[in-house]
Amino acid sequence: MSERWTPESWRQKPVQQMPDYPDQAALKAVEQQLAGFPPLVFAGEARKLKRALSKVAAGEAFLLQGGDCAESFAEHSADNIRDFFRLFLQMAVVLTFAGGSPVVKVGRVAGQFAKPRSAPTETLDGVELPSYRGDIVNDIEFTEQARIPDPRRQIEAYRQSAATLNLIRAFATGGYANLDNAHRWMLGFVKDAPASSRYNAVAERITETLDFMRAIGIDPETHPEMRITDFYTSHEALLLGYEQAMTRVDSTTGEWYDTSGHMVWIGDRTRQLDHAHVEFFRGIRNPVGLKCGPSMTVDGLLKLIDALDPQNQPGRLTLIGRFGAYKVFYHLPALVRATKREGRDVVWSCDPMHGNTVKAGSGYKTRPFDLILSEVKNFFAVHQAEGTHAGGLHLEMTGKNVTECTGGARGMTDADLNDRYHTFCDPRLNAEQALEMAFLVAELVKRERAGRARPEVEAAE
Ligand code: PEP
Ligand code: CO
Repeated sequence: MSERWTPESWRQKPVQQMPDYPDQAALKAVEQQLAGFPPLVFAGEARKLKRALSKVAAGEAFLLQGGDCAESFAEHSADNIRDFFRLFLQMAVVLTFAGGSPVVKVGRVAGQFAKPRSAPTETLDGVELPSYRGDIVNDIEFTEQARIPDPRRQIEAYRQSAATLNLIRAFATGGYANLDNAHRWMLGFVKDAPASSRYNAVAERITETLDFMRAIGIDPETHPEMRITDFYTSHEALLLGYEQAMTRVDSTTGEWYDTSGHMVWIGDRTRQLDHAHVEFFRGIRNPVGLKCGPSMTVDGLLKLIDALDPQNQPGRLTLIGRFGAYKVFYHLPALVRATKREGRDVVWSCDPMHGNTVKAGSGYKTRPFDLILSEVKNFFAVHQAEGTHAGGLHLEMTGKNVTECTGGARGMTDADLNDRYHTFCDPRLNAEQALEMAFLVAELVKRERAGRARPEVEAAE
């Protein structure tokens, strides 16, 4: 690990989950073109996110990370982005007001295009074809031609990311995110949802608070933090050629940043210590995530932490556990204990999606809401038992009214899945289910904060 790092040193290492491009000349041309394109995010923004995450590592804030499992070229509309952003703001407001915690907002968006797969091929009606690997690599259509990796898709993914980010920046800073608008963020189809009256009650409290603050001379016009929000982007940096092309030296610090997103993470299938993904990630200075599934050992984790965060910088590393609702009890405690014992200032976040995928009777891949919630509850329970901070939540979700996960207050069943099952990859919580989840998690956040406050009060007496 001590060898010299360059943006391309990963090319000397074994690599998993990367497509075999038949046209290497075309791939090279695309990578060169991308390397000349403007950065999507700036190093200063990534540093700001790192500072925000250092507050999470210190137990002073909560990380909300979420979005599509896979963004797609077909679903790139302004409505989609707006509905996603609006849902995200609602969830953040619920966690802030009902949970009583500052929230760091990180979307799985504007770059979440490359997918690792469990199997290299898929078989349908006796026909076997290479797996779909995300729109940045090949096409989801089940034909031989569509599944051939096409490097030009990387240009398309870059352009879509730029356009998405442009709209998100406008929403985040142009007035839409003004807390005064909290009532208006209620989505049309969520209005009669079970969580909507609770949300409106939160919005009511915000309005009252803002009225009070105005009365004492503090308002969004004079205090930009009330009308502007910090919203960051993230994705799994799987397609290393693309990520390398987007990696640039920051002129103010002379350090390398992957400018394809503010935060990038390593997937559970590509986190081998001596492989290409870890090599690439160790050299970039962005805040980075590491997915930790059931095969992660204590020793393996500590070695990865040494490689990815040798200076123990708070906010640099977010460990995203994704074990399964009950397996989390078998795996997480030892890992949390180890990071605590070694004094590692990491963020521990919970991805309750990827360990809880089941096949419905109808044949659809789904995730029961109650299983997702159980993993989150058990994640909080482990942190409570270990005296550590349950730092964040990592969700696959959409602002659209899809039918992909079962359960939730409306009691979605297997039979409903066929109605609007639109995902390009894994099943996502729909807007109602995600908002409901935010309320339930807010309770857990609040309880954790109350639990931590109590001993201090007692000690002071
Ligand atoms: C994902 O986040 O979409 C994913 C593939 O996760 P994991 O690497 O944890 O399986
Ligand atoms: Co997924």
